[in-house]
Amino acid sequence: MKGIVVFDTSYGNTKAIAEAISQGLKESGIEVDLFYVKDVKKLNGGDYDFLVLGSPTKFGTMSFTFKRFLGKVKSKEWANKPFAAFDTENPENIEQSQAENKEWSAAEKIAEKLVEKQMKPLAPVLKAIVFGQKGPLKEGEIDRAKDYAKELAIKLKKA
Ligand SMILES: Cc1cc2nc3c(=O)[nH]c(=O)nc-3n(C[C@H](O)[C@H](O)[C@H](O)COP(=O)(O)O)c2cc1C
Repeated sequence: MKGIVVFDTSYGNTKAIAEAISQGLKESGIEVDLFYVKDVKKLNGGDYDFLVLGSPTKFGTMSFTFKRFLGKVKSKEWANKPFAAFDTENPENIEQSQAENKEWSAAEKIAEKLVEKQMKPLAPVLKAIVFGQKGPLKEGEIDRAKDYAKELAIKLKKA
């Protein structure tokens, strides 16, 4: 069982969440590669059993770089494989999504695209709270990301 975690980041907060997820999976005995989105030249589905993707929320969706990267996820290679998605977003964004009953989260948009590619969600998305544009992350979010990874590991082992 081997997976790949890919993240975008401008100020390092989404990177920190990606690292925590990667570490949580490894601590649960699951092999993962961790990549900054711009370092992924080719995404070969044949090399991996699952995908974990995360982006900062920008204007209520994923970053432009991440949107472009999703073009590398080919349905032919990834259909029926499990995925998880995460993002960083401001608390006001979560309140707005709830008030409008509409998704303004990068992770939800990523999940939507992966489901269109016939991939299977392992778990609800993880929305990590960040304050302002540069951060910091809300206290406890790194631990929450590690716990999320441990839940993913349990589900991966059952899958
Ligand atoms: C141009 C821009 C647009 C943003 N739009 C949103 C937004 O719509 N909702 C939100 O919650 N945060 C928004 N943010 C804050 C980002 O979510 C925050 O900068 C990011 O989560 C930090 O992650 P990073 O350190 O990995 O870049 C925006 C930030 C920038 C720079």
